[in-house]
Amino acid sequence: MSQQNSTKVVVVGGGLAGTFFAASLMRRVSKKHHLEVTIIDKKDFFEVVGYGTIRSLVSPTYHSNMTHTYSSIASNDHKLVVLSNKKTTNFDLNGKNVTISDITSGESDTIVFDYLVIAVGSSYSSFPNLRPAEGVLADRRANLEKINKDIQGAKHVTIVGGGSVGIELMGELNDHFPSVPVTLIHGKSQLLERTSKDAHSYILNWVEKVNKKRPEASKITILVDDRIDAGSNVTTKGVTLPADTLRFNCTGPKPNTAGFEAFGIPLDESGRIRVDEHLRVEGHTNVLALGDANNVVEEKISNFARLHAKVAAVNISNEVQGKNTQPLKHVPQEYQSVIMLGKSDAIMVQGNSLKGKGKMFAWMKPKIESSIIGVAKNPNAFMSKMFV
Ligand SMILES: Cc1cc2nc3c(=O)[nH]c(=O)nc-3n(C[C@H](O)[C@H](O)[C@H](O)COP(=O)(O)OP(=O)(O)OC[C@H]3O[C@@H](n4cnc5c(N)ncnc54)[C@H](O)[C@@H]3O)c2cc1C
Ligand SMILES: *[C@@H]1O[C@H](CO)[C@@H](O)[C@H](O)[C@H]1NC(C)=O
Ligand SMILES: *[C@@H]1O[C@H](CO)[C@@H](O)[C@H](O)[C@H]1NC(C)=O
Ligand SMILES: *[C@@H]1O[C@H](CO)[C@@H](O)[C@H](O)[C@H]1NC(C)=O
Ligand SMILES: *[C@@H]1O[C@H](CO)[C@@H](O)[C@H](O)[C@H]1NC(C)=O
Ligand SMILES: *[C@@H]1O[C@H](CO)[C@@H](O)[C@H](O)[C@H]1NC(C)=O
Repeated sequence: MSQQNSTKVVVVGGGLAGTFFAASLMRRVSKKHHLEVTIIDKKDFFEVVGYGTIRSLVSPTYHSNMTHTYSSIASNDHKLVVLSNKKTTNFDLNGKNVTISDITSGESDTIVFDYLVIAVGSSYSSFPNLRPAEGVLADRRANLEKINKDIQGAKHVTIVGGGSVGIELMGELNDHFPSVPVTLIHGKSQLLERTSKDAHSYILNWVEKVNKKRPEASKITILVDDRIDAGSNVTTKGVTLPADTLRFNCTGPKPNTAGFEAFGIPLDESGRIRVDEHLRVEGHTNVLALGDANNVVEEKISNFARLHAKVAAVNISNEVQGKNTQPLKHVPQEYQSVIMLGKSDAIMVQGNSLKGKGKMFAWMKPKIESSIIGVAKNPNAFMSKMFV
């Protein structure tokens, strides 16, 4: 039942930013200021897209710990509706409504809002099945199984891109398929070029160490300052790869904002939604954009999507409850991340330095990713207060 005096908050995208935002907002707003929160997503499940996703490629059973279906989200004092398997077909920002269409039936519906939070995230267009796209959890699992079968049948693997995704994939392949030779090709002279050179050196040392344990015919090779074109076997510097190599493109995300300009949503030249320091979409006070889809100049990682979620939740909760406090601002963050090298080694980078390395970080990261599921399921979970 819709209540007259309730505030309607529509969240497009139930990924990390959207789900954490909803959890944080519902926890912060007292029951008497009733909220009706609607999360719209193309899928019917939440997935922690991170190391667990990469691990699931080599070990698909791991995926069960990284997902839950939207129907199991708790809603505490407020009304929460998750409209899954729906995609947006129109945004009317001035009319304050969003039109959605059911992916299976094509049936459409219009949802009105007081606040709109756009958290549509990004896709990994170079490697389409790396991230979950639209559809149900069973399809996602089937896609991962298919990639896993390909890996099991591979005689050689090529990883294009030596950013965090390419490097974590290399680590997982070493843990699970040490007899398959791997060539990682990176266009820049430094792996993880946006952080410390020490990180690059640590990774090269790690490769040297694991190569000692691998059979001669199945070493890991790192090629920096080199490229490979689509449909070619030979790198720019002349290294020939096996014709039957299994290739993974790990060359970065693209925001899921195609066509948004037509709805008056301002985009930058990379297709990211332009926001101000309160993460409000330029020209609007009740429309915000969070996570990978906005144009805050920082790494597009979960860590920061989580911070965006909090800024938005605090500001909207204060406004809804009539509190006259200074709104939070989001300050663009310097790179801060743990990057796994298989399940028993990792590095932690911050800004331009290598802050930590070793087993302890490798132990920590999967634990943190697992706890994200708890928060996404239940806004009142203890961990929720620590995250958002
Ligand atoms: C392989 C991989 C590994 C990563 N590892 C790490 C890591 O170790 N640490 C880290 O901090 N970050 C990592 N990241 C980045 C991290 O996954 C993202 O920063 C994070 O998911 C961003 O959250 P988001 O909510 O903005 O977007 P998403 O999580 O992409 O969520 C967007 C949601 O919107 C939905 N959606 C999109 N368009 C529509 C539409 N039109 N209508 C309805 N629904 C829509 C999608 O289905 C999706 O559920 C990794 C990314 C990848 C791909
Ligand atoms: C994942 O879930 C399985 C049970 O489904 C459990 O045995 C395992 O320990 C979990 N792993 C992690 C890393 O949480
Ligand atoms: C959505 O907004 C437009 C523009 O104001 C309006 O014409 C339309 O009736 C609205 N739809 C609904 C269902 O409120
Ligand atoms: C990798 O990217 C190239 C284009 O850069 C594309 O031709 C190729 O099909 C992609 N490979 C896979 C496995 O997606
Ligand atoms: C790759 O190399 C093999 C020989 O090693 C050749 O048969 C094949 O046609 C090559 N493929 C392309 C796309 O160049
Ligand atoms: C947040 O703060 C700004 C600046 O004071 C305010 O104008 C705005 O209405 C607040 N709400 C949202 C949703 O950003």
